[in-house]
Amino acid sequence: MRLQGKRAIVTGAAGALGRVISSALADEGAAVAGLDLDGPGLELTAQLVAGRGRPSRAFVVDLTDFDAVGGSVEAARESLGGVDILVNCAGGGAVSFFHEMSAETWTTQVDRNLNAVFNVTRHVLPGMLEQRDGRIVSIASVAAIAGGRLVRGATAYAAAKAGVVGLTKALAIEVAEHGVTVNCLAPGAQATPGRDRDTPERREELLAQIPTRLLGRPEDLAQAVVFLAGPAAVNITGVILPLDGGHSI
Ligand SMILES: NC(=O)c1ccc[n+]([C@@H]2O[C@H](COP(=O)([O-])OP(=O)(O)OC[C@H]3O[C@@H](n4cnc5c(N)ncnc54)[C@H](O)[C@@H]3O)[C@@H](O)[C@H]2O)c1
Repeated sequence: MRLQGKRAIVTGAAGALGRVISSALADEGAAVAGLDLDGPGLELTAQLVAGRGRPSRAFVVDLTDFDAVGGSVEAARESLGGVDILVNCAGGGAVSFFHEMSAETWTTQVDRNLNAVFNVTRHVLPGMLEQRDGRIVSIASVAAIAGGRLVRGATAYAAAKAGVVGLTKALAIEVAEHGVTVNCLAPGAQATPGRDRDTPERREELLAQIPTRLLGRPEDLAQAVVFLAGPAAVNITGVILPLDGGHSI
């Protein structure tokens, strides 16, 4: 029970990783409010959290809308009684080759993967600073540090996730002396349901680029989040933790 009594917001809580992260936080004693566009998916995650005996809330919101996010964060804060942990997990890539990419595709990727992190963190941070206690963990990607070798056509996604890396380091310095830590994970390919669509050839192509020859397990990624949100990580900030089987070495 490393997070007993803690109150967490998880963005992208309806998604594959957000759901596992929400469940892992609840397993350690945290109340969880999920923010996502996907209402039915959020409800399922909320049921998993509630099933672990923890308070659970769900807020449907487009995280690229700064003002709407402010309202949802405020509602989450009120219903939880405060926010101690923020996990920025919402996001996702779209394959598009740079020489033919539209400005709209570029903007959408940056909005979804970087600006959403700004929008939510900007609204959550003041409360953490006030209580002089907070943990922010964002889910970037190995694409931010190793380019798009696992998925070609990922320039917009990689650039946006690299923005999350920069934001993490700069914000970590800004708030370090106020009791708030800011870290991020840089996962490689995870064994999420989306990967089931891979052909055997695509699977082999992926594994050939991963020294351990293993896809990441969402449960393991969630444990990294729990660690960074927990008491043992009080003096860890500004870290970019690759979870990629050595791909980025
Ligand atoms: N799955 C992987 O292999 C992998 C690898 C590296 C990084 N990541 C990152 O991890 C995070 C989670 O990935 P996942 O596999 O769970 O993806 P997913 O598609 O299953 O979940 C992403 C969630 O984000 C939500 N979302 C997206 N845009 C939103 C918006 N504008 N407003 C509100 N909600 C929005 C979606 O509705 C979805 O529920 C993403 O940021 C992704 O880039 C995933």
